[in-house]
Amino acid sequence: MNLLARLSFRKDRASTNGRSEDETAKNGRKQPEGKAPKGKAPKKQQPSESFEMVKRRATVNLAILERPLMSSTEFIVDARYRNMKLLDSGSYGIVVRAFDSKTKTAVAIKKIFSAFSCSRMARHVLREVRLLRHLDHPHIVKLLDIDVPGQYTAWQSVYIVTPLLEVDLYTAFRQGKVDDVLKQKKIAYQLLLALEHMHSHGLMHRDIKSKNLLLDKDMNVQLCDLGESRFYSKANRDILFEDELEDELEPQLSGVITTILQSAPELVFGDEYDAEVDIWAAGCVIAEIVRPGHEYLFDSVAKHSHLQEIVDIIGYPTPDVAETIDKNAAWVLRRVRKSSGNRIADMLGPSVDQLAIDLVEKMLTFSPKQRISATDALHHPWFDEARDETINNRGKYDFAQTEPSKKTPKSKLKRLVWDEIIGFHPEAAGMAVR
Ligand SMILES: Nc1ncnc2c1ncn2[C@@H]1O[C@H](COP(=O)(O)OP(=O)(O)O)[C@@H](O)[C@H]1O
Ligand SMILES: [Mg+2]
Repeated sequence: MNLLARLSFRKDRASTNGRSEDETAKNGRKQPEGKAPKGKAPKKQQPSESFEMVKRRATVNLAILERPLMSSTEFIVDARYRNMKLLDSGSYGIVVRAFDSKTKTAVAIKKIFSAFSCSRMARHVLREVRLLRHLDHPHIVKLLDIDVPGQYTAWQSVYIVTPLLEVDLYTAFRQGKVDDVLKQKKIAYQLLLALEHMHSHGLMHRDIKSKNLLLDKDMNVQLCDLGESRFYSKANRDILFEDELEDELEPQLSGVITTILQSAPELVFGDEYDAEVDIWAAGCVIAEIVRPGHEYLFDSVAKHSHLQEIVDIIGYPTPDVAETIDKNAAWVLRRVRKSSGNRIADMLGPSVDQLAIDLVEKMLTFSPKQRISATDALHHPWFDEARDETINNRGKYDFAQTEPSKKTPKSKLKRLVWDEIIGFHPEAAGMAVR
């Protein structure tokens, strides 16, 4: 993505930039720098609002981007974060790189816009911060900090801080950094380790794609972007259904889930689905990893043509599999041209190892029930040289217990995000939260 931006960086301004963007949102209009509102004495800070926290904010002005950003052009965080430069803009926000002057490390900060605009969005943010905070795994990105907002009531944007990694896998492909076979195996293996860990918690990631795999300088993987994660039905049936119902209630937002290129057939049908959707998506990513040129295996962006492509490459489902598909989905499937498939080896090309082809075929089965699990995939012989059995991969945190019910209002979800912030910033515990 060509998002080169000229960013201007200003820090430690107590007046304009000292005001948080959230305060600006509340008051409707920003005051000119250094001036108090006309005709009024500068408003006295409530003692509990922690004036220091507001004053120490730093701002990156992102106004000069090549394309307009959603709802906001400002990036306002604690002044401990310096030298900010735009890294990426994604579906929910923007990501900058920065130097953390407190820990003396390079970090990435993701700003999530309009985090509490509706309960679905608030739940998305809560999941992302909770999972990043509590999933302690070498191949899942760590949460270093969540920035304290200047003021609770007008708080809308959430800033999450993670260690800065070198590059995402999508970009690494384009830079020719993933052409060595041992590296390819390591990346694929570590992706599956991260998935096995999530699945052992009863969680599915639901947005596995090369852009969401970060690589460090030694090409070790860290999975990021956990906001679309859900509990899956086998483990937590009630929670999944509550959540999906919510998607129905807010249909304008449900379209953003999971990129179609990596969507399993059961996701395209809108049928009931489980953690196997991650295995399908990981199969697509592994196909991209080993394929010379690293092109997508399925590249249609429309649902019907995506399904046609799947059938053309892996074959039309056999009658016993087709029988297990629900009635609506069967109606969709009848509109797809039949094909005997069996073309994964052709698509990957003659230079690709038979064992890699075998693994991808086991990950890309039409029926989720026949799809290999993350645990079994990790034992696949293609990984013999890359295997690392030193990692204890079983989940130990009970996320399902702490998942708020569907009826939880967005105000309460916002408060729960706030509670996560207090985990990082006990000093902010006295701030007014009404
Ligand atoms: N810690 C990080 N280090 C380096 N790059 C990152 C980091 N976090 C995010 N990025 C970059 O920003 C992009 C968007 O971040 P992501 O968390 O996936 O947000 P979104 O929900 O907007 O997709 C990633 O694809 C990656 O290129
Ligand atoms: Mg992403």
